[in-house]
Amino acid sequence: MTDQNKTSEKPWGGRFSEPTDAFVERFTASVGFDQRLYHHDITGSIAHATMLARVGVLTDEERDQIIEGLQAIKAEIEAGSFGWSVSLEDVHMNIEARLTDRIGITGKKLHTGRSRNDQVATDIRLYLRDEIDVIGEEIRRLQFGLLDLAEREADTVMPGFTHLQTAQPVTFGHHMMAWFEMLERDHQRLLDCRKRVNIMPLGAAALAGTTYPIDRAYTAELLGFDAPTENSLDSVSDRDFAIEFCAFASLLMTHLSRFSEELVLWTSSQFDFIDLPDRFCTGSSIMPQKKNPDVPELVRGKTGRVNGHLVSLLTLMKGQPLAYNKDNQEDKEPLFDTVDTVKGCLKAYGDMVPALQVKREQTRTAARRGFSTATDLADYLVKRGVPFRDAHEIVGKAVAFGVAEKRDLSEMTLEELQRFSTVIEADVFEVLTLDGSVQARNHIGGTAPDQVRAAVSRARTRLA
Ligand code: ARG
Repeated sequence: MTDQNKTSEKPWGGRFSEPTDAFVERFTASVGFDQRLYHHDITGSIAHATMLARVGVLTDEERDQIIEGLQAIKAEIEAGSFGWSVSLEDVHMNIEARLTDRIGITGKKLHTGRSRNDQVATDIRLYLRDEIDVIGEEIRRLQFGLLDLAEREADTVMPGFTHLQTAQPVTFGHHMMAWFEMLERDHQRLLDCRKRVNIMPLGAAALAGTTYPIDRAYTAELLGFDAPTENSLDSVSDRDFAIEFCAFASLLMTHLSRFSEELVLWTSSQFDFIDLPDRFCTGSSIMPQKKNPDVPELVRGKTGRVNGHLVSLLTLMKGQPLAYNKDNQEDKEPLFDTVDTVKGCLKAYGDMVPALQVKREQTRTAARRGFSTATDLADYLVKRGVPFRDAHEIVGKAVAFGVAEKRDLSEMTLEELQRFSTVIEADVFEVLTLDGSVQARNHIGGTAPDQVRAAVSRARTRLA
């Protein structure tokens, strides 16, 4: 990056009598990070020039010169030969200055009827719209991975937990479908956010609109926006669409973080429910036996920065009077980092989840511990006329006996069980088995293997 500090070089230098302080120049510049918007900045400028020619503000020849120049600049940037200059402050003025270098005086006409205020608001929306589409695809990829896994493990029994204590047996597929549903809501939130991102601020100019006969609907159509914004002051000042995206991202990361926590627990030798392929794990430099679940741990950790970015943007916005303020330049780094982090985490999970190996014997053995079918015994008693509260008490006593004897309910004899209630008969053992327990929860949203398969098939239809 070059540093040419002459007042005359500033596109806004006219009313200034001394050059910008060298530190202030660096301090106020955003080109170090907003150059990543170059592609969308050029796309927006091409549409703007096309519209200006259509309404007669530029000639067709000027428009073509500008478009050619901008395309050449894009090629320079992509080839790495573009000289970014801090003294030109941001991506917008860098590109505009280069355009004038390349095509001469016509380059100076591009900025007619617009301001960097509506330009930057447009660029961020174009950028975010593209990223939203990529992120939406990545969520879908992970969801399909979960559907395959749920189908594969529809009959696999594992303990279900509340308070992280064994509660009732569930199927592994059912557990995966819980994750799927969380992601489905995240996907819906993302699509909903996209509707409000895809509105075009261009034409608001600095804050009040412009005196040229611009055709905003036409520019919006060229750029694939659903409509132009309704109010010029609002257009250049609010960043609520970016905040909304960050709120979506925080919730998505919260979900990924919860999956991560479970994967970390499940790979531990204490749980031993799953195996992650070596390619998603790392070792320890001192303990030779270690295989650490770094990917889930890192995803869980990265949730912190995404939540932080949401708070940054909310705080950035909360004290600002209308309309544009320089504060808004601070919207970019949190937004960019949120996008990068979410994409990275989704990529890692999309690759890792289908490769997860479930240790079916271990999950079944674990489900047998902790009296996971106690509720089934209580339900059995209720079906034979015992009021639920009494049934709860009876089973509680049977569990206390089991704890003392170190035996599960299913390992007791019929005579032993009958000591707690005379309504118990030999068919009780059907409900005390793990498979009987999960199969009995056979309704929409229940854990029965057939319900998991039905839920997977409904989900596939939803996603088709
Ligand atoms: N770099 C600025 C930003 O990111 C562009 C808009 C600057 N507008 C202005 N009037 N200083 O917000």
